[in-house]
Order: sequence, then C-alpha cells, then structure tokens
Amino acid sequence: MKKTILVTGGTGYIGSHACVELLNSGYHVIIVDNLSNSQKDVLARIEKITQNSVVFYENDIRDKWALQTIFKSHSIDAVIHFAGLKAVGESCEQPLKYYQNNVYGTLVLTEVMEEYNVKNIVFSSSATVYGDSDKVPYTEDLPIQATNPYGQTKAMVEQILQDYAASDQFTKHDSTWKIVLLRYFNPTGAHKSGLIGEKPNGIPNNLIPYVSQVASGELKELSVFGGDYPTTDGTGIRDYIHVVDLAKGHVKAVEMLSNAPLEKGGCKVYNLGTGTGYSVLEIIQAFEAASGKKVPYKIVPRRSGDIATCIASTSLAKQELNWETEKELEEMMVDTWRWQNSEAMT
Ligand code: NAD
Ligand code: WQD
Repeated sequence: MKKTILVTGGTGYIGSHACVELLNSGYHVIIVDNLSNSQKDVLARIEKITQNSVVFYENDIRDKWALQTIFKSHSIDAVIHFAGLKAVGESCEQPLKYYQNNVYGTLVLTEVMEEYNVKNIVFSSSATVYGDSDKVPYTEDLPIQATNPYGQTKAMVEQILQDYAASDQFTKHDSTWKIVLLRYFNPTGAHKSGLIGEKPNGIPNNLIPYVSQVASGELKELSVFGGDYPTTDGTGIRDYIHVVDLAKGHVKAVEMLSNAPLEKGGCKVYNLGTGTGYSVLEIIQAFEAASGKKVPYKIVPRRSGDIATCIASTSLAKQELNWETEKELEEMMVDTWRWQNSEAMT
C-alpha cells in the first residue's frame, strides 16, 4: 500500500524537489506550508512534473489546531520536516524570530505527531552545526559548535529529537521514535524541467544565486568574500550538492525509517554532500562555461562568520543510507542557468 508522507515546507526550494522524488517513488504527499518563503504555483508545477496530485494545507506549523486537523484527516506514515527560516544574517539580527519559528515550530509539530502516534521523522539539518572545524572532511561524529542563531536552532532541534529517541528506553511506549537527521552541505541547481528551483527574496545571500543573477545582468558584479584563505586559490571552498541528489537522499531516509538499523527505533545522523569541494573562483569559471556569460567579480574582505573550507565525509550515508550523489558541478550550473532564464523567474 502507498505510504503517506507529510512534508512541512514542501513548497520551498528543497521541499518541492523532495515532493517530486517522493511522488516519483510512489508515495502520497501532503504539504503543509505557510508560504512565508514560497509561492502556491509551485504545487501545480510539482503536479505537472510528476503527473500526480498533492494535498496542500496553507498553515503555519506553529498552529497546533491546524496540524491536529491534518493528522486527524489523514493516516500519515512519516513526516519530512523542511519548514524553517534559513538566512544566517537575518538570524543574527532577529534571533527570536528564528528560535520561535524553527525551534518552537518543531516542538508543536512533534507534540502533534506524538498525540497521533506518528513518530517517524526526517529533519533538515545543516553542515552549519559543525561550525569551524579543521578536521576536513567533516564526519558526523564531530562536535556540534554552531556559530550563529540559525545554526543554533538546527543544533537545538537535533538535540531535542535525539532526546525523544533516547526517551523510549526509559518509558514503555506503544511505538518508538524513528528519526533521521540530515545535514545538508551547499544545495544548488534546479529541476531539469525548469519548473522548480530556488527563488531568492531580494538580493541573494548565497554564492550561486548571486553568480547567476550577475550572469543574467540583474546584478552588476560579484563580491568575492576573501582572497586570503588557506585554500588552493585563497577563496572559500564548499561542497555544492545538486538539489535533486539531495531530494533523493530524503526518499532513502524515509525508506530507512522502516528498516535496519532503525526498525526498533532510534536516531541516525547523515551528511548529505558530494565529498568534493570547489572554490569561489572555480564556481565562477564553471558558471561562465555553463552560461556562456561573463561573471565580473572583485575580491573584497572576508565575510564575517565565514570559514575557509567545508566538505562532507560521505561514507556513512553511502554505507547505511545506501545513497550517493550522481550529479557533477557542470550539471548544477547548467540547471541553475536554465532555471534563471525560466518563465517562473521572470
Ligand atoms: P525555503 O525557504 O525555500 O523552504 C522552507 C519552506 O518552509 C518555505 O516554503 C516556507 O514558506 C516554509 N515555512 C517556513 N516557516 C514555516 C512555518 N512556521 N510553517 C509552515 N511553513 C513554513 O528553504 P529551503 O532552502 O528549501 O530549506 C529547507 C530546509 O532545509 C530549511 O529547514 C533549511 O534550514 C534547511 N537547509 C537549507 C539549506 C540551504 O542552503 N538551502 C542548507 C541546509 C539546511
Ligand atoms: C559560499 C562561498 C562565501 C556569496 C550558507 C549557510 C549554511 C547553509 C548553506 C543553510 C563562501 C562565498 C558568497 C557572495 C562570496 N544554509 N561568497 N560572495 O556560507 O557556505 O553556507 O548556505 O543551512 O548554513 O551559512 O554558503 O553560498 O553563502 O557561500 O564570495 O556574494 O561563497 O564567502 O566561501 P555558505 P554561501
């Protein structure tokens, strides 16, 4: 029988791609999203790509009554929890907004899950929880040391969910929590169809959306934050992962919720990255090649809070989740450029 997955934040960038992969893998999908950072027309686009329908609730996950109504109306097998705010800079200016939305929102969601005895959850965490570690590539057992309020919300939610999983050994429950925490590295790219992708609000904070808007002529020039890092060319190195590979990792995580090593409950943590890093200058070059456009840039001082290198160790996800990436940098750039020029972005 088809399983039903509730996707919070499912009209957002990563959530929409995950919904496509879930539908393509034969799941029923219910989305709850308050549309604070996404548009409703994404639903029709998901349906067009997959030729399948989704159920949509325009609600905030902090609205307990609304969530109870959803859980009452459907037999939900698992939740993938994407809903959250994600801008590091904004989180430093407005930390309360981030703790309210990301931490409190998760508390309301998991309280309702417990009430309806749905204790299977996949959570969107981030490589940001590792802070600045010199042990590259980052393995999942590194200490957690988030350096900004956004990262703290991810670290806190991870801890809360780990405590839920641990609580099952102390109390006799009807069922146990089965939890997968996924730490994403730098998601990029868009769906091949050109129908869904990332739509930044205002001037982009992240490198690739910025580069893409410089290539299209919307922005004049890229500021490269720092040319004096201890890296091959002095610019920051990151592990960019195609959003479709990332989305497929969620399907694997959902499968894992009913299989070893989680069949008796527990919490597992996996990095989702490629294991390969690229510098800012390499990204500019790759984008110029994919788009055929020049990306003018100048090197400026480092951005506060940035680190030199952030690359995932991918062996645990490969071994246990049976997942690895398939898409290379060129495809990430080509798909971003197609999306940049799509009718949805104009
Ligand atoms: P996004 O902003 O595109 O998607 C998040 C979605 O959640 C949006 O559609 C938004 O409207 C919705 N939302 C936010 N708060 C909500 C609430 N209280 N109730 C209901 N809906 C709410 O972001 P994304 O890039 O798709 O990220 C998804 C998740 O992955 C987030 O939790 C983010 O922190 C995490 N993450 C993202 C990245 C990245 O670089 N994009 C990296 C690591 C982790
Ligand atoms: C990448 C590289 C910059 C913009 C962020 C969050 C992280 C995660 C992913 C959610 C760095 C350089 C950037 C620009 C530049 N999100 N850069 N000029 O900082 O690795 O990660 O997004 O969880 O939490 O912190 O990504 O794309 O901002 O930067 O030179 O205009 O590009 O210095 O080296 P980052 P990014």
